[in-house]
Amino acid sequence: MSEPLLKIEGLEAGYGEVQVLWKIDAQVGEGDIVCIVGSNGAGKTTLLRTISGVVPATAGRILFKGDDLTKLRPDQILERGIAHVPEGRRLFRGLTVRDNLLLGAYLRRDNAEVERDLHFIFELFPILRERQKQDATTMSGGEQQMCAIGRGIMSRPKLLMIDELSLGLAPRLVERLSEALIEINRAGLTILLVEQDVMTAFEIASNAFVIETGRVRMHGPTKVLAEDADIRQAYLGG
Ligand SMILES: Nc1ncnc2c1ncn2[C@@H]1O[C@H](COP(=O)(O)OP(=O)(O)OP(=O)(O)O)[C@@H](O)[C@H]1O
Ligand SMILES: [Mg+2]
Repeated sequence: MSEPLLKIEGLEAGYGEVQVLWKIDAQVGEGDIVCIVGSNGAGKTTLLRTISGVVPATAGRILFKGDDLTKLRPDQILERGIAHVPEGRRLFRGLTVRDNLLLGAYLRRDNAEVERDLHFIFELFPILRERQKQDATTMSGGEQQMCAIGRGIMSRPKLLMIDELSLGLAPRLVERLSEALIEINRAGLTILLVEQDVMTAFEIASNAFVIETGRVRMHGPTKVLAEDADIRQAYLGG
C-alpha cells in the first residue's frame, strides 16, 4: 500500500495540565473522505486543531506526504496544503462574502488561478455568487457554512478538514452540503470530516475513526462500522 497522505502516530495533546488526546493513531489515504466521529467532548476538535498547529502536540508525530509537520506553525501547515474549516464557521464580520473567500487565498500569488478557484466555488454554491457583496456574517447558517468551506478551498489545499458540517442545519441543507463535499472530493481534494451526525458522516466517508475520551476506540470502513452492534447502539440509535 502506498504511504497515506496524512499519518498520525501516537499523537497526544491537551490544554495546559489537562490532557485531551491519548496516543492517537490515524491515517487518511490520498483521495479519500475519512470521518472522525465521537460524542461531545471526545476530542475531535482538539485533534483537528492539533493537526492545524493551533494546539501543540505533546507527544507523537503528524506526517503529511511523509514530512513531519508536528512542530510547524499554523500558517506553515496551511502552506503545506492542509486547510481547516473550523467549528462554528468563524467568518469575519464586516467583510463581504467575496473578501472572506479571498482571505483563504492570502498566501497565494497565482492570481489567475485564485480567480479560477473562486469561479469553481461560485459554480458549486451559486448563492455565494449572488451574495458576494453581502456581509458574510449576515447570511443564514447554511450559507455561512458554504462560505466557510469555500474559504478553505481557496487556499487550494491537498487536505480539507471540516469540523461539524451539519451542526444546526436543516436536513435538506445537510444533503446539499454532503453532495458538495463529494463533488469537491471528485475534483481531487482529500477530506477529513468531523461530524456529530454519524449517519451523515458514514454516508459521505469511506473510512471512519471513532474517538472516545481522547482515544481511538474503533476504526475501519464505514460500511463495516455501520453494521457493528456497539456502534449502532451508541451512535446510530440501535
Ligand atoms: N481551549 C480549551 N481549554 C481547555 N480545555 C478545552 C479547550 N477546548 C476544549 N477543551 C476540553 O477538551 C476536551 C475535548 O474538547 P473538544 O472540543 O476537542 O471535543 P469535541 O469532540 O470536539 O466535542 P464537541 O462534539 O462538543 O464539539 C473537552 O473536555 C473540553 O472541555
Ligand atoms: Mg468539536
